Amino acid sequence: MKKIKLAVLASGGGTNLQSIIDNIEAGRLSAEIKVVISNNSKAYALERARKHNIKDIHLSHKMFETKEEFDEKLLEIFKENQIELVVLAGYMKILSPTVIRAYKNRIINIHPALLPHFGGKGMYGIHVHEAVLKAGAKVTGVTVHLVDEVYDHGAIIAQRCVPVEDQDTPETLAARVLKTEHQLYSEAIQLFAEEKVEVKDNRVYIKK
Ligand code: GRF
Repeated sequence: MKKIKLAVLASGGGTNLQSIIDNIEAGRLSAEIKVVISNNSKAYALERARKHNIKDIHLSHKMFETKEEFDEKLLEIFKENQIELVVLAGYMKILSPTVIRAYKNRIINIHPALLPHFGGKGMYGIHVHEAVLKAGAKVTGVTVHLVDEVYDHGAIIAQRCVPVEDQDTPETLAARVLKTEHQLYSEAIQLFAEEKVEVKDNRVYIKK
């Protein structure tokens, strides 16, 4: 099967990146990570890439005079590497409309809750799980969605539920959700590899 060419953008530890690498290496995912890009030179995600002989690039807005120059460079990297799908995996920066438009329906993100709940501004990392517990929800989950110009808003590609246990702390809940993220993200990428993702009127349909 054809291997879909990925760029993975990550700002932090990169456990989602690692799960994608592991699934590719185990033959469960027909993809090739062409490049890992981080705005943070110290991101462990870059180290993970290097360990697996994947090209790693530190690219930050701080390196450029204008936002436009940053976008130009990012798009140039995507083009040079013939990127077919951009995978955000704990990337803490907002992509500009220029980049989003250039890769319309080809940029995906993972969110550690069931969108449209517990998403939006400020809803990242441990804050998401704190909000879930505060609301008294009995289920939470994982959402993989297309990235559009509104934060945590793009069409949903895949979701999976995760139970909330009575004794959960934000940390124990985060750990349980993260395990599901590691499965669901690769499954969603595989849908793109198999060209099964269709977008119509801001809804995603999965071809059988
Ligand atoms: C994950 O919880 C993901 O849902 C969110 O950022 C976190 C990244 O974790 N978007 P990691 O860097 O992949 O370990």
